[in-house]
Amino acid sequence: MKQTNKRELTDVLACSQKVYKPSKKLIKQANVQDYEKTLKSATKNPEKFWEEAARELKWFKPWDKILDKSKKPFFKWFTGAKINLAYNALDRHIETETKDKIAILWEDETGRTREYTYLQLYYEVNKLVNALRDAGIKKGDRVAIYMPNIPETAMAMLACLKIGAMHSVVYAGYSAGALAERIKDARAKILFTADGSFRRGKIIDLKTIVDNAVKKCKSIKKVVVVKNNKQAIKFNKKRDVWYHDFVKGKSTEAKCAKMNSEDPAFVLYTSGTTSKPKGVVHVHGGYAVGVLRTIKWVFDLHGDEIFWCTADPGWITGHSYIIYGPLLAGVTTLMYEGVPDMPKPDKIWKIIEKYKVNVLYTAPTLIRAMMRYGKEWPQKHKMPSLKILGSVGEPINPEAWEWYYKYVGKSRCPIMDTWWQTETGMNMITPLPCAPLKAGSACKPFPGIIADVVDKNGKPVPVGKGGYLIIKNQWPSMIRTIFNNPKRYIKTYWSQIKGAYFAGDVAFKDKDGYFWIQGRTDDVLKIAGHRIGTAEVESAFVKHKTVVEAGVIGVPDAIKGEVIKAFIILKQKIKPTDLLKQKLKMHVRHTLGPMAVIKDIAFVDKLPKTRSGKIMRRVLKAKELGLPTGDTSALV
Ligand code: WT7
Repeated sequence: MKQTNKRELTDVLACSQKVYKPSKKLIKQANVQDYEKTLKSATKNPEKFWEEAARELKWFKPWDKILDKSKKPFFKWFTGAKINLAYNALDRHIETETKDKIAILWEDETGRTREYTYLQLYYEVNKLVNALRDAGIKKGDRVAIYMPNIPETAMAMLACLKIGAMHSVVYAGYSAGALAERIKDARAKILFTADGSFRRGKIIDLKTIVDNAVKKCKSIKKVVVVKNNKQAIKFNKKRDVWYHDFVKGKSTEAKCAKMNSEDPAFVLYTSGTTSKPKGVVHVHGGYAVGVLRTIKWVFDLHGDEIFWCTADPGWITGHSYIIYGPLLAGVTTLMYEGVPDMPKPDKIWKIIEKYKVNVLYTAPTLIRAMMRYGKEWPQKHKMPSLKILGSVGEPINPEAWEWYYKYVGKSRCPIMDTWWQTETGMNMITPLPCAPLKAGSACKPFPGIIADVVDKNGKPVPVGKGGYLIIKNQWPSMIRTIFNNPKRYIKTYWSQIKGAYFAGDVAFKDKDGYFWIQGRTDDVLKIAGHRIGTAEVESAFVKHKTVVEAGVIGVPDAIKGEVIKAFIILKQKIKPTDLLKQKLKMHVRHTLGPMAVIKDIAFVDKLPKTRSGKIMRRVLKAKELGLPTGDTSALV
């Protein structure tokens, strides 16, 4: 049988026999030393667990109630309390010795470097806070950020939060259309960008993309441009301002807004089952609590670590584990703006050695790409500083897990396979360094999280049987709503299984209670760990003048996990040529952005549909993979 994206029980059971036990030395120095005991006590009283976690932060006013369920599913945490996420990530450290520690280390693929201590970062952020306030930004306003992985991205995010404005970071790989759609939905007033960035030696002209996007966005009054690449750009004097001019002469002290715990901190758009992206809303209080507790426990941070998360700030992984998590924990975060295999395939390992990285948090797709170059590249590097490894974004196949463990971690560093989502804000199902590991399993829920695998009626399924992954209780960094669309929030997450959060993934549990995540249940694709809705891709196709209808599926790919195959019905009289295929691929890339990788296009006369006219993507997929179309239950 051909490979499907879904992992079958038989494939993984063989691996699950082998248990990787943590070393005594590692346990001895860990923040959490007794795995089962910690889980048990947190499960008994999750609210107490999170209340204890909350005490690590600085609150301007304490809470009246830990968890308010009175308006479910609009749950509220730490009600009555006052706090600011940015204050906790930055200002709080200025009163301690942490102020002289490096907060951000930055390097790009051309070899430029920069670093900021917490105190320096604090001054930079304050200047920007004052500039934004002078530009009229107030509590509750939205600011869009379309930037490379550079320190100014972190500064812009923190500055918004200090004012109490919400940021909306849009991944700088998105197209002008996708950026415009997100700006419009959030009605953002200011947009941060850069002249450009470098990728594999090529200049990415961000400013031109921004110019095209902003044409359609009336809400944007100002575009703040970081001079990063120094290439020539068009400058609209009325609207655009250089970042360095924007902050020039501003005071390095700025007041921090005292926010309600439940005030929104940011919105982050993610793909769903319709063509319209969802604006996931996170808040100041609970998000800070969840992110700080998970980063400290999962990656065993004590304060002096160099933490490298290879994601982009434009995704939730970047929000929680490049910016807020490391800064809340007072450690050093490494931002690398570049690809891991240039100029040579060991660039990534070289950076780890150069900066003495203690924690590497990356994605299975990157590991698989590195595997392809061969083990000799990591073998050239000892990387003695590495302590913990992390994986995120999609299921990690046991082969990649073992390679990562052996050749990167030198059989010394445990791998934290962290399952979570944009909506969860923090790691949800994950081992801790003291837990016994199984290659390819995300282990058990984080302390305080109660998860299960159930059938469509909410009944737990037997061991080894696939079902829907749900979270049965609430957690502080959970999504609060979908921006401008509370109904969609209820429908997507709280209407499938009664009383539980519906994750949209399928999984099974093994006899030890370990979770094995299999993939999405819905029409969401995972291309190199990036989430893309099939409906978004289809709607991009039908925008092309030659296309009548499109059906899109994900097909397995050795490196990216999944890539897109499209079935297209052309308008009458349009010739189905290879050149047209090429044009359509470029059109989708242009409409959505380069992560929408179309591997293949097939021109067809009709698409399989339900009676109500919905395209049956499962049937397309079964046919493509050579599976019986009658039984499509095996497909995700
Ligand atoms: C979806 C969420 C928040 C992480 C970055 C992606 C898949 C994520 C794992 C993992 C198996 C995983 C799920 C999930 N996923 N981590 N460790 N093992 N699957 O965030 O774009 O919101 O996507 O990514 O399918 O639902 P996202």
